[in-house]
Amino acid sequence: MPLPPDEPDSPEAIEAWIHERMRAHDRFADVYDASERHREEHGPECTVYPSGSGPVLGTLAAATGAKRILELGCGLGYSALWLAFASSPDGRVETIEQDDGHAALARQNFQQAGFGDRVTVLLGRAVDLLPIRTGPYDLIFCDSDIDEYGAYLDHFVRLLRPGGLLITSNLFLGRYSLEIPGLGQAAAYRDRILREQRLLTAFLRGGLALSVRK
Ligand SMILES: C[S@@+](CC[C@H](N)C(=O)[O-])C[C@H]1O[C@@H](n2cnc3c(N)ncnc32)[C@H](O)[C@@H]1O
Ligand SMILES: [Zn+2]
Repeated sequence: MPLPPDEPDSPEAIEAWIHERMRAHDRFADVYDASERHREEHGPECTVYPSGSGPVLGTLAAATGAKRILELGCGLGYSALWLAFASSPDGRVETIEQDDGHAALARQNFQQAGFGDRVTVLLGRAVDLLPIRTGPYDLIFCDSDIDEYGAYLDHFVRLLRPGGLLITSNLFLGRYSLEIPGLGQAAAYRDRILREQRLLTAFLRGGLALSVRK
């Protein structure tokens, strides 16, 4: 069979191929785009960077049959929509967000996408809300600012069911700037999830860490 003329033949071309195809098939691309526009308008303090891994999050939620999901860092709801869409039909997502403007926009997005009854926004800081959550959760997605990551891991281990999946984002932000607050916390967290006996961890090239609760 002849090769297609646009067969990707370099790491960059493969990355572009994946990016274009995932984007073309992203059912929540409108919320992704709205998140990008919002960040531009909100100003430099805004950290609404929608996940670059929506379909990956979705396939992981579907593969694990997750029914109860916790997210840290809702933004405008892009990743929570992927998680809710792909979880089991009675799956529920609780998503923590500290900014009430982001939370309000996310709630609108959940309603508009038909997931208003399956996603709950918990308004507050993760470091305050995590200690009062009770498990078990099937899946936790950590996508908040990194400056408090040091306080999270014990709670993740406590809250995940055995076999549950922890997906951690934002662990290599040094590629963007060495001035980002919390790089030291992210570095310590990377080491801890590798050493933690109750987790089995793998890092993906895109920057996500996947950790299964033993
Ligand atoms: C990277 S964005 C989340 C993007 C979102 N997961 C998505 O894919 O669209 C980070 C969000 O987390 C919120 N946030 C950051 N640190 C937080 C914290 N410690 N507690 C609660 N929310 C936090 C920010 O206000 C921002 O909306
Ligand atoms: Zn914002």
